[in-house]
Amino acid sequence: MLRRLLLTSVFASGLALSAQAADQVEVLHWWTSGGEAAALDVLKKDLESKGVTWQDMPVAGGGGEQAMTALRARVTAGNPPTAVQALGFDITDWAKQGVVGDLGAVADKEGWDKVIPAALQGFAKYDGKWIAAPVNVHSTNWVWINKKALDAAGGKAPESWDELVALLDKFKAAGITPVAHGGQPWQDATIFDGVVLSLGNDFYKKAMIDLDPEALGSPKMKEAFDRMAKLRSYVDANFSGRDWNLASAMVIEGKAGLQFMGDWAKGEFLKAGQKPGADFVCIRFPGTQGSVTFNSDMFMMFKVGEDKQKAQLEMASAIENPAFQSSFNVVKGSVPARTDVPDTAFDDCGKKGMKDLAEAAGAGTLMGSMAHGYAAPAAVKNALYDVVTRHFNGELDSDAAVKELVTAIAAAK
Ligand code: GAL
Repeated sequence: MLRRLLLTSVFASGLALSAQAADQVEVLHWWTSGGEAAALDVLKKDLESKGVTWQDMPVAGGGGEQAMTALRARVTAGNPPTAVQALGFDITDWAKQGVVGDLGAVADKEGWDKVIPAALQGFAKYDGKWIAAPVNVHSTNWVWINKKALDAAGGKAPESWDELVALLDKFKAAGITPVAHGGQPWQDATIFDGVVLSLGNDFYKKAMIDLDPEALGSPKMKEAFDRMAKLRSYVDANFSGRDWNLASAMVIEGKAGLQFMGDWAKGEFLKAGQKPGADFVCIRFPGTQGSVTFNSDMFMMFKVGEDKQKAQLEMASAIENPAFQSSFNVVKGSVPARTDVPDTAFDDCGKKGMKDLAEAAGAGTLMGSMAHGYAAPAAVKNALYDVVTRHFNGELDSDAAVKELVTAIAAAK
């Protein structure tokens, strides 16, 4: 009797296990900061309400470099996760390897082609097939300013490079760290996106998207590096290696005046209970209003066994649900990846983000972020990271950095 009972329960738990596998997604991501985790929770809970359980595979490290290393190990071992947070050219690179899944069944039924902007489709599709579900649109040319510090410095948000420098000098005189920054290559490169863009849309496009050697080696590029050196003079002594969310905390706590960072920083301000307009101010990098350097987090889907495909498609469908796109992005700091989501639930920075994105898309000034994998493939991006970081740390002067940038990118192309 006991034996029969035991056998029955083993059999039953076996059944339960296989049912679980069918409705479970294993997700690799790098959303480990307070704001990021809060946003991820919106997705986890949404899936759980649909009976899909979440197996978490977090790999810490802003910008996702470490996550991509972990992913390579899993794919090489022949055991990819169900879904992976990924950016731009990395997605195309995996698609070329023939290891990604096919979301066509859901995408066609739900009409993704009509509501997801062309700029994102270029990365979420490969060879005409949907392979990734875009969850948001972030952009890198933002500045997050402590409101009290700004008020004490006269209250006017800077609109040009000179006004920015004047504000940073006032922060310095007030005894706070002018620029909260974490010295990690991807963070240095995130500032570089804004600095290059502040020297003109055409310049950004020619240098960062077209990788035109003339633009890369131009006097304007020297000016970009000079601007980076100037900004370097406003960071504190302990900036090296600091995580981006700890830099956000310096602004939140009033220890620093501002941070140059993508709008995932807003997630940290919100998580700390701060309100835009009252506690912090969001502006575009001075001189870049009207232009947007974007990066969109996408969940790239891998080829998985038949037992896991149903949950994979369910996850893709949940991500593109318009109500989910609103509730997720309100928390994450980003804006929806669909064009048909109302801005009503968003705060003023979110509303601005949505308006800026639509305007830039219409004006032809929406361009992929180099720092976050939407301007060029990883090899080029990493070559740029290397030069920008060495220059930021004083190993190269601006003239040398320009020369190195031209040769490093030519070699990586
Ligand atoms: C970006 C990503 C954002 C944010 C940030 C910091 O690459 O697109 O969602 O998480 O890294 O980790």
